[in-house]
Amino acid sequence: QNSTANKLIELHEQAAKLYHHILVNTQAGKQALNYLQQRGLSSDIISQFNIGFAPQQRLLSPFFKEKGIDYQRLRQSGLFIEDQEGKLRDRFFDRVMFPIKNPQGKIIAFSGRLLSTENTEMPKYLNSPETEIFNKRRVLFNFDVARKSARKEQKMILFEGFMDVIAAYRAGVTNGIASMGTSLTEEQVNMIERVTSQLDVCYDGDAAGQNAIRRALDLIATQSNRLQLGVIAMPAGVDPDEYLQQNGAPSFKQMLVDAAETPVAFTLHFLRQDLNLNNEADQLNYLNSALKVIAQVKTPLEQDVYLNQLVNEFQLDKESLQAQMQQIIRQTA
Ligand code: UTP
Ligand code: MN
Ligand code: MN
Ligand code: MN
Ligand code: MN
Repeated sequence: QNSTANKLIELHEQAAKLYHHILVNTQAGKQALNYLQQRGLSSDIISQFNIGFAPQQRLLSPFFKEKGIDYQRLRQSGLFIEDQEGKLRDRFFDRVMFPIKNPQGKIIAFSGRLLSTENTEMPKYLNSPETEIFNKRRVLFNFDVARKSARKEQKMILFEGFMDVIAAYRAGVTNGIASMGTSLTEEQVNMIERVTSQLDVCYDGDAAGQNAIRRALDLIATQSNRLQLGVIAMPAGVDPDEYLQQNGAPSFKQMLVDAAETPVAFTLHFLRQDLNLNNEADQLNYLNSALKVIAQVKTPLEQDVYLNQLVNEFQLDKESLQAQMQQIIRQTA
């Protein structure tokens, strides 16, 4: 294999060991360890995900310099920023460090979280820059573990953040993955569909999360005809990690099952959420957009189920709904 890549991976593996050591064995990591324990992460989980802490004072630059690691290699690693004189300083400091792995389980990047987001303009999570070994578009958090578990479960669950993936893992759900703080990409969809036939999307219960679900569904629909999709709609105002924290593991696992709906059902809920369906204009508006969605359903049976729901809910004539839907299909053809 490419030896530059291997050397960069080796730097990351060593950095992760050091960050982990600081977190679990030193005074400098105490506050961060408390923070993680408060968020419900046991020592086992902290070890499983190899979580660490980058302290305030610079750690990696003296460590790697002492080991005599080549300057160019250090520059390429993304672990440092270069100051005006070309000196390399640690990119990450005062952050809880989450290693990011490739599908083979090798560490290729980090994401660092601030202990507190109050009184700061700095981003909550800071990710490694793109490097020879880290391409954000081709990385999914926990993919190395989830793909093994998906062999048994025949399913993966896509979360928004990696604290949600870790929460699921704590509850015994090991097939969770997350993209790296960006929208889902084509490359990630390809990775997923190679290892599983079913994907449930479970994003945060806020407007950003709900909009991101719609974008993810659209992307997957155009990108893959193999993946069977589901949506797990979170209760308003919480993300999966917060849900676990508030309700415990049994309820969390039950929620993953109970709140699962088809993409069409999710989209219909989404379209009506800000409308007042007692108002005629809103009702017509909803019916039109609902028919557009239902018109795209590929299987006749499923299409009929949703049409019947409209017929029953709004006391409508099925023939006129069908006629309207045909008109929509002709217009968009
Ligand atoms: P969230 O804001 O939902 O974070 O962003 P979270 O996962 O709930 O994190 P906690 O619980 O506050 O610790 C979702 C994802 O977006 C990316 C991260 O990958 C995060 O997991 N993100 C968010 C960033 O990359 N940078 C940020 O500053 C914020
Ligand atoms: Mn969010
Ligand atoms: Mn969140
Ligand atoms: Mn969260
Ligand atoms: Mn709903």
